[in-house]
Amino acid sequence: MRPFMIAAGTALTLVTLAACEPQDELSGRADFRDYCAGCHGADATGGGPVARALGLQTPDLTLIARREGGAFPFTRVMSVIDGYTRKDQHGSKMPAFGPLLDGPKVMLEYENGAVTPTPAALVALARYLESIQR
Ligand code: HEC
Repeated sequence: MRPFMIAAGTALTLVTLAACEPQDELSGRADFRDYCAGCHGADATGGGPVARALGLQTPDLTLIARREGGAFPFTRVMSVIDGYTRKDQHGSKMPAFGPLLDGPKVMLEYENGAVTPTPAALVALARYLESIQR
């Protein structure tokens, strides 16, 4: 059985997750390469071959924090990836990431205080993106 992480606050959540960063970042980077780089580019700056073939404009994912005034919007990014708040553009063009989202879960506390089992791969992907912000 996998250890579950229970965090005690939003800031703490990120600190707790940071403790397992090397692992998270590794799997996040590998998953990014496998599931995302085709559209977002190997370096996440946009314009991967799939996006080009489909004529899609992909935002530079290394500038998310800068676009939002400096703070990396961790929860929003996870929501975009898992489709929860994805708008039609992303929803219709982004493939289903079932295998990613069906894996083991970690307990994550969100800004509203809800502690929710969240796919570890999703957290790892968001952490990876956070780690490559410029
Ligand atoms: C088929 C192409 C495609 C694939 C594959 C894809 N994306 Fe996207 N992504 C897009 C497009 C197009 C947008 C911009 C439109 C939108 O935001 O709805 C986008 C937007 C995003 C955003 C929002 C950026 C922002 O600043 O708001 C994030 C985060 C993101 N993608 C992450 C990922 C991750 C992580 C993966 C892999 C699990 C992935 N995407 C796979 C096409 C793709």
